[in-house]
Amino acid sequence: MENTNFVKISHNELETQDIARAYAEDLHSGDIVLLYGNLGAGKTAFVKGVAKQKKAQEATSPTFTIINEYEGDSVIYHMDLYRIQKASDLFETGFEEYLNSDGIVLIEWPDIAMHILKNYGYKTVRINKINDCEREIIFSSCPNEG
Ligand SMILES: Nc1ncnc2c1ncn2[C@@H]1O[C@H](COP(=O)(O)OP(=O)(O)OP(=O)(O)O)[C@@H](O)[C@H]1O
Ligand SMILES: [Mg+2]
Repeated sequence: MENTNFVKISHNELETQDIARAYAEDLHSGDIVLLYGNLGAGKTAFVKGVAKQKKAQEATSPTFTIINEYEGDSVIYHMDLYRIQKASDLFETGFEEYLNSDGIVLIEWPDIAMHILKNYGYKTVRINKINDCEREIIFSSCPNEG
C-alpha cells in the first residue's frame, strides 16, 4: 500500500485488524496517525492490528491511561484523548514529546489536540460504522499532512 487515499470495507473485527496490519507495513518511525470514528467504531481494533504487524504486545484501550506504549520492531505510542477535558491538560501527558519522538504515534479522539497536530505531518484513518459488523475505513495522507 504505497500511497494512501483509499477506502476499505471490513466485515468483522479481525478483518479490521488485518487491514490495519497491511497499512502498518508502510508506517515508520516518527509517523503520526489520527484515528477518527464514533464510540465502538473500531479504532482500538485497528491499533491492535498495527501492534501485531510491528510484533508488539497486544494493544488495549488507553481510555483511562491516555497513553499506552508498546514495544515491537518500532515503539508504538497509542493515545486516546477522549477523557482530556481541556487542551491545557495535554501538556501533563507529555503530548508533544511523543509527537517528536521516533515512535509511531496513533491517536484516538484527536480533535482536542488539533491546534498542536496542525504543526506536524500526519495521516488519517476514519472508521464509519455501517452496521453492527461492517465498517468503512477511509485512509488519507494529503501532501500537506505529511
Ligand atoms: N468490522 C469491525 N471492525 C472493528 N470492530 C468491529 C467490527 N465489527 C464489530 N466490531 C466490534 O466493535 C467494537 C469496536 O471496539 P473498539 O474498542 O475497537 O472501538 P473504538 O473505536 O476504539 O471505541 P472508543 O471510541 O470507545 O475507544 C468491538 O466490540 C468489535 O468487536
Ligand atoms: Mg478505542
